[in-house]
Amino acid sequence: MITVAIDLQERSYPIYIGCGLLAQSHLLAAHITGSEVAIVTNETIAPLYLDQLLKGLKGYRCAEVILPDGEQYKTLEILTQVFDALLTATFSRRCTLIALGGGVIGDMAGFAAACYQRGVAFIQIPTTLLAQVDSSVGGKTGVNHPLGKNMIGAFYQPRCVLADTDTLNTLDDRQLWAGIAEIIKYGLIRDLELLTWLEQHMDQLLARESSALRYVIERSCHNKAEIVAADERESGIRATLNLGHTFGHAIETGMGYGTWLHGEAVAVGMAMAADLSQRLGWLSTTEVNRVIRLLEQARLPTRAPQAIDAARFLELMAVDKKVIDGQLRLVLLKELGHAVVSNDFAPHILEATIKNAR
Ligand code: NAD
Ligand code: GLY
Repeated sequence: MITVAIDLQERSYPIYIGCGLLAQSHLLAAHITGSEVAIVTNETIAPLYLDQLLKGLKGYRCAEVILPDGEQYKTLEILTQVFDALLTATFSRRCTLIALGGGVIGDMAGFAAACYQRGVAFIQIPTTLLAQVDSSVGGKTGVNHPLGKNMIGAFYQPRCVLADTDTLNTLDDRQLWAGIAEIIKYGLIRDLELLTWLEQHMDQLLARESSALRYVIERSCHNKAEIVAADERESGIRATLNLGHTFGHAIETGMGYGTWLHGEAVAVGMAMAADLSQRLGWLSTTEVNRVIRLLEQARLPTRAPQAIDAARFLELMAVDKKVIDGQLRLVLLKELGHAVVSNDFAPHILEATIKNAR
């Protein structure tokens, strides 16, 4: 097992990464407060992993909250089911919520934990590659609104993250590829060595070789840990973790939540950010082609859907947490491995990028 530490003073916590960790209940026990544990999961993951988890929690009064599966259910309305279950079970403010699932479950359970009785303990057990390399770490929690992705939420850190790489064996290929998008993101924004490694070892990763998976999960978590420790609440450098996300969120919202996977939309968004960076004279054609080639190696899309026209795309992009005083800011690439947040682009350049992307 590898442990990566998130250093946030009194909110510091470990990320445990390895195989067979679901069975190692002592890892969780050290981070559970009280005797009441609610496991929040969904109808796909419950039959696969809930029993295994419950076996190690025999000494606790456990409640199971099984939500419907899908990005379209990441809503305030469905979140109410968690509060209903906690109140029905008469759980106190000493209870612990455990998220067992991908990014949707992690974001929702974390937000529920932040809100229930003004905040209870929370543990992440991410079961998708995307959640193990990104969403379970760093404390961003929340739900979607029909007008914008992740627009309702809170910063709320877990007590620990337990990433059991065995759970990735049941993930379908499309979900695995979507997770690789967020790994490529770390390479593009700050880790050229990881970018090169991905170019050279993509086949091993696509084949789910355990050493390749362990490497990318650990490396991604290290990258995220450094950024989150420097800027927990995104007043600066953390925004670079959103490379491709403003474009990507426009695709997810515009196509209807759940139609495009988050990682797929982010992949197209990163290709668009590279294109815009080239138009600003920051990236060369060779570098943009390198980005596109790597996304293609990971079986990810690089073109935006035709169904969203340029005007609608811009409208959707305007609902973004990086918009300040009506001014759109985007994460762009000064060079590969160096991201910046910038509003220094003329509207017609952005429009050209959007038109070129479809
Ligand atoms: P997801 O949670 O929808 O999971 C993908 C699918 O895989 C679901 O159908 C799920 O039921 C299934 N699944 C999960 N684990 C499985 C397993 N081990 N075996 C088989 N099937 C399994 O999607 P995701 O890609 O994990 O997460 C995307 C979400 O994460 C988005 O809502 C996005 O906004 C959010 N996100 C949050 C952050 C953050 O910092 N909080 C970062 C990135 C993404
Ligand atoms: N996934 C973006 C962040 O955690 O900041």
